[in-house]
Amino acid sequence: MRIAIFASGNGSNFQAIADAVAAGKVDATIAFLFCDKPKAFAIERAKKLNIPVITFTPKRFEDRMAYENEILKHLDEEAVDLVVLAGYMRIVGPTLLTAYANRIVNIHPSLLPSFPGRHGIQDAFEAGVPETGVTVHLVDEGVDTGPIIAQEKVAILPDDTLESLETRIHQVEHRLFPQVIQQLAEKNK
Ligand code: GAR
Repeated sequence: MRIAIFASGNGSNFQAIADAVAAGKVDATIAFLFCDKPKAFAIERAKKLNIPVITFTPKRFEDRMAYENEILKHLDEEAVDLVVLAGYMRIVGPTLLTAYANRIVNIHPSLLPSFPGRHGIQDAFEAGVPETGVTVHLVDEGVDTGPIIAQEKVAILPDDTLESLETRIHQVEHRLFPQVIQQLAEKNK
């Protein structure tokens, strides 16, 4: 299975997947990292790992369709089977959704459908709920919607700070996402 990973920021989930591939725990090839933010730290990680990077911002294009058509060109060229959104902070448009129907997965740091959006961890923390978690799901036209593939709960402890909760959520993400990608690789065989 050939995958492309899309990231917009730190890239710790990208790193976890790349490490799992290198360790033989995920039977996939990372064709490239796509980054919509030329200064994102994820790009530095990819360079260190010798993973090809493709980066451009939507600003360069007339509209979202033109932007996504350019992405699609790279996905086609590299014969990518699965698109993995790992902190890609954009809504996926019809161009990519149609071309990669049911072949785009996203990770989100909450128990969806609770707390979608950009601040899933903080929103759960501030809501005072006893537990939150991590969701991996197929992407559709909504924000953090689409059929759920895997979910894992994370308790919010009485002495948690936002930072301590973030750390535990990320630990779960870095374990769960490679596991799900490996399951999808098995199915793709
Ligand atoms: C992750 O926590 C991911 O779940 C979240 O962004 C973070 C990216 O971290 N995604 C969303 O909130 C999607 N709505 P990373 O760049 O270190 O992988």
